[in-house]
Amino acid sequence: MVLIAPSILSADFSRLGEEIKAVEKAGADWIHVDVMDGHFVPNITIGPVVVSKIRKTTKLFFDVHLMIKDPVKYAEMFAKAGSDLITIHAEVCKNLKSDIKKIKETGCKVGISINPEMPVKIIEDIISDVDLVLVMSVHPGFGGQSFISDVVPKIRKIRDIIDKTGKKIYLEVDGGINAKTAKIAKDAGADVLVAGNYVFASKNYKEAIQSLK
Ligand code: DX5
Ligand code: ZN
Repeated sequence: MVLIAPSILSADFSRLGEEIKAVEKAGADWIHVDVMDGHFVPNITIGPVVVSKIRKTTKLFFDVHLMIKDPVKYAEMFAKAGSDLITIHAEVCKNLKSDIKKIKETGCKVGISINPEMPVKIIEDIISDVDLVLVMSVHPGFGGQSFISDVVPKIRKIRDIIDKTGKKIYLEVDGGINAKTAKIAKDAGADVLVAGNYVFASKNYKEAIQSLK
């Protein structure tokens, strides 16, 4: 069974708490929080203050995706704000092993993400150290983009590596997920799907989430 993590990036920010409760009621498994700093990606979104406020609206697992240049510096703040899992991008890490260790020390689970054009080999050695691998299926920065199908072989390859570790490591796919691409990602081995626009732009959140599952 695949888990669905609606990305609040596409929610109505003027009613963020209500939106989170609505997707929870509609069957969301996790809440995906996209954090952008205007440096690693050309967009700025939310910080730990918002995370701590929305933490009060739900008990759902907070899957916090840091698309920022200096994730280690801010990890503690996001952990204290109520994150359950913090994902960092391999592209910004000089020393992946030690950065993962530092994030773990915050008490959160740790995820590692790679952009669509990045090869698996940049994370291959550390996959068994993390709780989740996030494969970006769009270029990070904005919601509502189209799924890049070139990443499908990479999802399969990472599924294989994860299976060989014998550990429970989630494989999450993020970007351009709809009913059609959800099936492609799931068939390739994903077990968590992030969906922003597809869920929040739909008229019926329950139907949208069900169609992904
Ligand atoms: C992109 C973000 C995604 C995005 C997903 O930078 O990491 O989580 O919001 O949105 P959709 O599902 O609309 O592509
Ligand atoms: Zn994301």
